[in-house]
Amino acid sequence: MKAIVFDGTDCKLVDGVTVRDPGPGEVQVRIVASGLCQSDLSVINGKIPFPTPVILGHEGAGIVEAVGAGVTVPAVGDHVVLSTLATCGQCAACVSGHPTMCHESFGKTATPFELDGTPIHNFATLSTFSERIVVQAGQAVSIPKDIPLSTACLIGCAVLTGAGSVLNRARVNPGESVVVIGAGGIGLNVIQGARVAGATTIIAIDTNPDKESKTRLFGATHFVRATAGDTVSAVRELTDGGAHHVFDCVGGEAITSQAMEMLDWGGQLIMLGVAGPEAKLSVPASTFYMDRAVLGCRYGSSRPGADIPKYLDMYRSGRLLLDELVTKTYELEDFRSLMDDARSGKLDRGVLLMPS
Ligand SMILES: NC(=O)c1ccc[n+]([C@@H]2O[C@H](COP(=O)([O-])OP(=O)(O)OC[C@H]3O[C@@H](n4cnc5c(N)ncnc54)[C@H](O)[C@@H]3O)[C@@H](O)[C@H]2O)c1
Ligand SMILES: [Zn+2]
Ligand SMILES: [Zn+2]
Repeated sequence: MKAIVFDGTDCKLVDGVTVRDPGPGEVQVRIVASGLCQSDLSVINGKIPFPTPVILGHEGAGIVEAVGAGVTVPAVGDHVVLSTLATCGQCAACVSGHPTMCHESFGKTATPFELDGTPIHNFATLSTFSERIVVQAGQAVSIPKDIPLSTACLIGCAVLTGAGSVLNRARVNPGESVVVIGAGGIGLNVIQGARVAGATTIIAIDTNPDKESKTRLFGATHFVRATAGDTVSAVRELTDGGAHHVFDCVGGEAITSQAMEMLDWGGQLIMLGVAGPEAKLSVPASTFYMDRAVLGCRYGSSRPGADIPKYLDMYRSGRLLLDELVTKTYELEDFRSLMDDARSGKLDRGVLLMPS
């Protein structure tokens, strides 16, 4: 089968990759569509250290082709959205409804693929830039068949992370103010999550002025161009002194320090952007005297089995925009253009369509 393999230097489209059969509790999924998230690019540019060769991609949707022993859900033929959470289902985090905190589901590496006898790693326990993958049954959440998989795939990371960070982690209240730094796939979903939560001031900040119209469509009440002067003053002015919630969807010391300065007393910074492994935060300790807080947030603190159906209901009722997230679709042969376009910052999301 075909897949995009990152060998540590370059991403290449190769044919002849194999994936192992599904074991007990696992399913094999034929990938139909897959979004490219900044975290995939961060493996390529070294911001996220990861062993190679590896097949990237962690925002996918597809069709179940085979199930391993003991699997009753999902069934062969089901359409599924894939999640990165390969949880143990038994630890305290899992049984208390916090699967993103399961130690089994983060940082484990495996080599379920092979090319000419060489083992190939999966990424984020998925690897959706491959025609087929093998995952835990619980990572494949069944969805209704009338929802296009080229749209549904974006729930797998952008929506779960962005909307989840607002609804599950920050718990934004009606009438509050929200700032979103970086209006890409993640940031746009923070914006619409904030709209759904009832925030009345939603300020989008991006270096790219072309992002304004899309941010407003998703629910932003204001747009500030990151390069246009002092963004901290702009936010303080628009929020009458500081914001209740600032979501950093870019990452890095400079951005995060600015984000802290945008907070009102009692405000909280939610960190979604991935900084490099060496990045440090240096914040005056006095920042915290007036009840300010910093929250990390993995994968929107999501519970994919419950959240994916909920987001699809919100999509059907028009409260969550999904089709509008897809700027452009790409064939497997055009993966390089997808990477170039994503790096240039002109995409909301680019979606890779696998051969049928
Ligand atoms: N915490 C998590 O679980 C999680 C999950 C997925 C992605 N991420 C991270 O979230 C971040 C965003 O991912 P994405 O896929 O939305 O990226 P993206 O490339 O789709 O969007 C990034 C956006 O930020 C803008 N931007 C870049 N530099 C900026 C700056 N200095 N100021 C303001 N705007 C700026 C770009 O113009 C673009 O619109 C990445 O760091 C990614 O690794 C984290
Ligand atoms: Zn992602
Ligand atoms: Zn667990």
